[in-house]
Amino acid sequence: CVEAEQFDRAMMEELFDVADAMERVRPGAPESTMLQGYLMSTLFYEPSTRTRLSFEAAMGRLGGGIVSTESAGEYSSAAKGETLEDTMRTVEGYADIVVLRHFTAGSARRAANAIGKPLINAGDGPGQHPTQALLDVYTIRKEIGRLDDFKIALVGDLANGRTVRSLASALTQFNNVKFYFVAPDVVKMKDDIKDLLTSKGIEWEEATDLAAVAADVDVLYQTRIQKERFANPEDYAKASGKYIVDRTIMDALPKSSVVMHPLPRVDEIVVDVDDDPRAGYFRQAQNGLFIRMALLKVLLRV
Ligand code: CP
Repeated sequence: CVEAEQFDRAMMEELFDVADAMERVRPGAPESTMLQGYLMSTLFYEPSTRTRLSFEAAMGRLGGGIVSTESAGEYSSAAKGETLEDTMRTVEGYADIVVLRHFTAGSARRAANAIGKPLINAGDGPGQHPTQALLDVYTIRKEIGRLDDFKIALVGDLANGRTVRSLASALTQFNNVKFYFVAPDVVKMKDDIKDLLTSKGIEWEEATDLAAVAADVDVLYQTRIQKERFANPEDYAKASGKYIVDRTIMDALPKSSVVMHPLPRVDEIVVDVDDDPRAGYFRQAQNGLFIRMALLKVLLRV
């Protein structure tokens, strides 16, 4: 599981059915031991709360074990100069499946090529975050009740955002999805995603008026401006604070729509909005647990 493009519509729908079943797994039930005896290694070279903890919780809730290192770049032998390939070849001797987050785009593909066991890309720099895309599509289905015939706004740091790149890619599998891209000038959506949508005949447009866009969408997908990816602090200052989801935006948003965010947030969704029933981002984060339980089951062929 390295890129979102690996999943076609049928595979996603099958996975979502498994995820639905995972929501019903309770401690002590027979399903809660289905991965007993299996080990998952989590190697995170970048910080994470949701992805790492939900993968580890997923493995634990299905009875499996975890081998891990805190801050892999600092506390694994990468700090002594070990290559990613050598680390991967070592870890595959200990674990049945490896979850990798790395700071370089393309590193997950390199890691997957180095080993013969399943490799899950938990985010590779500004490249891809395919399991986030899967949980995002699953969340859209649960929140608005369909995966065809809807409009989505991708908002914020679209140049550095691996979640929006993977999500846009995954949504090409569905029919009649219209995209709005709302981003500060310094972090606009890259041409490869625009070209992908155009090549598949999918409608997209760039817009600057967030309230006007909010009034026309079923899904408003906000993202953080990723300070850590800016080489120039002046560019970050230009992008930061430009598009904020607040009460004004919520007033414009249709009653049946949902606000999503991969989290973490800084200030791009005001906390006041959290108690609005359309604020779906913590439900979205919880869906990550069910999707990752389903992925572990499927990838380990249990
Ligand atoms: N959405 C997401 O990837 O969150 P974390 O960085 O906390 O894992």
